Amino acid sequence: MGFQIAIDGPAGAGKSTIARAIAAKLNFTYVDTGAMYRAMALFFLRNGIAPDDTAQIGAKCQEAEITIRHENGEQVVLLNDEPVNQFLRTEEVGNMASVSSANPQVRERLLGLQRQLAVENDVVMDGRDIGTCVLPDAQVKIFLTADSSVRAARRFKELSDKGISCDLEVIEKDIVSRDRQDSTRQFSPLRQAEDATAVDTSLLDIGQVTEAIVKIYSEKRCVFKR
Ligand code: DC
Repeated sequence: MGFQIAIDGPAGAGKSTIARAIAAKLNFTYVDTGAMYRAMALFFLRNGIAPDDTAQIGAKCQEAEITIRHENGEQVVLLNDEPVNQFLRTEEVGNMASVSSANPQVRERLLGLQRQLAVENDVVMDGRDIGTCVLPDAQVKIFLTADSSVRAARRFKELSDKGISCDLEVIEKDIVSRDRQDSTRQFSPLRQAEDATAVDTSLLDIGQVTEAIVKIYSEKRCVFKR
């Protein structure tokens, strides 16, 4: 079993940027579980499945084989052996992922893969239910938050930088509705684990947040026995 750092929080709180920076600094494997849910969502969209068709989502997910590999420290997600990273970061896929990730069969299908990665590697894993469900014994648990307006502005910049045209108001509305879906669903809802440290990133830069988390890690590392 490796050392486990779990980072949870709502969309746009900075989880992936921070998790990636910490993994690089500590030489850990970065695991982006949201990308796995997005790959599942891409599979449903490609198969013309409607977001509200829960029966089809539950049945069809059995045909989607999600695996990952790492290339130069980056996680590459494979959907039935096809690398799909380039298709995952659209609003359409994100909105489908928010709905389809509420399905227990979809979650069950990805849980084993996520836990296996943490057995084989020292990991920084980010998502919504890592500290509460996937890695309940993680030595470090962080819950990252930020105001929805700050999160929307970040997502707007991320998309604009990629040349994707978007509307700030629509993004904020999507973020708020995704937060609601993620935190009110029945299975593995987004919530802070009791033993997690909450970090509000609204007014902090990446360096400050990374430093704060690495400090928490260093304190825990001293008492961690392999
Ligand atoms: O972090 P993200 O935006 O890439 O995540 C996409 C969706 O996947 C998000 O709406 C919630 C879901 N998700 C989840 O339910 N559990 C996780 N561990 C990670 C993501």
